[in-house]
Amino acid sequence: MTEMDTLKAELLACVAAATDLAALEAVRLDALGKKGRISVQLKTLGGLEPELRKQTGQALNLVKDEVAEAISMRQTELEADALSAQLAKERVDISLPVQPPLAGGIHPLSRTMEEIAAIFADMGFSIAEGPDIETDFYNFTALNIPPEHPARQEHDTFYLRPDETGVRPVLRTHTSPVQIRTMQQVKPPIRIIVPGRTYRSDHDATHSPMFHQCEGLVIGKDIHMGHLKGCLIDFCRAFFGVDDLPVRFRPSFFPFTEPSAEVDIGCRRVDGKLEIGTGDDWLEILGSGMVHPRVIENCGLDPDQVQGFAFGMGIERLAMLKYGIPDLRTFYDSDLRWLRHYGFMPIDVPALHTGLDEGV
Ligand code: PHE
Repeated sequence: MTEMDTLKAELLACVAAATDLAALEAVRLDALGKKGRISVQLKTLGGLEPELRKQTGQALNLVKDEVAEAISMRQTELEADALSAQLAKERVDISLPVQPPLAGGIHPLSRTMEEIAAIFADMGFSIAEGPDIETDFYNFTALNIPPEHPARQEHDTFYLRPDETGVRPVLRTHTSPVQIRTMQQVKPPIRIIVPGRTYRSDHDATHSPMFHQCEGLVIGKDIHMGHLKGCLIDFCRAFFGVDDLPVRFRPSFFPFTEPSAEVDIGCRRVDGKLEIGTGDDWLEILGSGMVHPRVIENCGLDPDQVQGFAFGMGIERLAMLKYGIPDLRTFYDSDLRWLRHYGFMPIDVPALHTGLDEGV
């Protein structure tokens, strides 16, 4: 083997042995760079005899071309390898299931309020609202609960700091003050419900200092007890989804209604569990009555011209009964596990865009 062949074989072996582009570049510099082995040899040609210079020059140039060609092919190979390696490293498994987007739920209280509103909307009621911070007049006096009346004590009222005239505002203890506000502002006929927050200083498994009520008020000509009964029987049956649900009206007392009646629904208690709709037991679910003539008068209306009925129900209580929720306090804990268990899909809620009134 000639010296030239040995050089060629050595360089080609180095090219083949280069395992990455950096190593290949080192081989290229070692062979073809300014001080590379081939370049150095080419520089010595000048000192040779013309004939030998020609032969050696041709042979050297052949080696140079062959080595350059080998480097270029090896470079293409190594670039392809590098690309495959990068593709493998950055591979994304598009067959993995996506994380489902977190969908919010409807709180059982909101759901219950919307169900109540939907039923009354069907009966032609609209929604009215009033302030949570009330005056003594709207919360008590106008509702025929004068100062010193024993009913005031039963309400466990939260009073706020007195204003400049020494009068203490109250957190409304029921939604009934909106009866007064509505009768003062809207000419009969009136048919409203008032869902909203109410406050009493009370806290245990069935009482919370803040809770929700839904008031109802119907005022018009010749409204009588029959209307009250028909309306509330229909409501109870629609709300609990039992067509022949037994409904009982039990005489009661509220200062702002006369006569007054508490409404009970039929139920049964089996092994400590409550079943609504059958049985010989009763469960109280709301208060009601014919609006007291003095209340109608207090709003500037003539009780000989218009009459009406009113009712009030606790929304937490209705939600607990309908959805089997045992402890009222859990409504406000914001415990995600509880919310997922008792919450409702947003899609499931009846669209309720009818019957909405301006707040009064
Ligand atoms: N306001 C009464 C309560 O909070 C409920 C009620 C409303 C009773 C309207 C009769 C008429 O207990």
